[in-house]
Amino acid sequence: MKSRKIIFANWKMNLDSRGISNLVQDILSEMKNFDNLDVILSPPFPYLKLVSDLIRGSKLSLSSQNVFYEDVGSYTGEVSTNMLKDVGCDWVMMGHSERRQHLLETNEMINKKILASTHNGLNAILCVGESFDERRHNKTFVRISDQLKRGLRDVKYDALPCIVIGYEPIWVIGSGEPARLKDIQEVHNFISNELDSMFPDSTNLPRIVYGGSVNNLNINSIISLKNVDGVLVGNASMDCEVFCDIVLKVGDST
Ligand code: PGA
Repeated sequence: MKSRKIIFANWKMNLDSRGISNLVQDILSEMKNFDNLDVILSPPFPYLKLVSDLIRGSKLSLSSQNVFYEDVGSYTGEVSTNMLKDVGCDWVMMGHSERRQHLLETNEMINKKILASTHNGLNAILCVGESFDERRHNKTFVRISDQLKRGLRDVKYDALPCIVIGYEPIWVIGSGEPARLKDIQEVHNFISNELDSMFPDSTNLPRIVYGGSVNNLNINSIISLKNVDGVLVGNASMDCEVFCDIVLKVGDST
């Protein structure tokens, strides 16, 4: 079902073990009203086990920020789906624009990651989004359609409930200003239509979340948009008070 709202905290390459431990414990004691939500924490790789231990028995879930598509073998520096499951991850993020840009991740690599993750029982969030230049040159929909079609190639219908699409316009990430509501709405409607045409008759299409400078002051207007099933929060998710307020407001909106 599409309606359960979802909130990702993407901590990127920030914090250390003490900072993460304090933040998670604060979140656990502050956070209210999220029984009807999926709230997912995504720390850097070295702290996955720490967070997994801290959130055991709570309603919070754990995501990595990346994964490799092979199961085992000579892939120095990489981490498999089974390793992630072994340390308590239920989710994996893929295709974030920072990885596409700095690690040269391609749609083909992302597609292999999504197939491996869903095949091995992990939920996956596939990030898509246009650059400022693409938006300026009216290439937004071409870019996003391409990322969806190549990223989701060969995905089977039964994997669809395990997939979330994260729409993140690249230039607003970390800027403090989200995209205009009108633009968010337009792109989420577009993604919803694309998914409909890629997977006709599916009753379990992926949820679609928005990311890019979400905070507790703009969340109400973003979450009230049609086809916005949740948010992906970067900077604001490392401030317990702000993050818990976002969760509270998303919970109130359902
Ligand atoms: P931001 O990051 O909320 O700091 O803009 C979002 C993201 O990159 O996932």
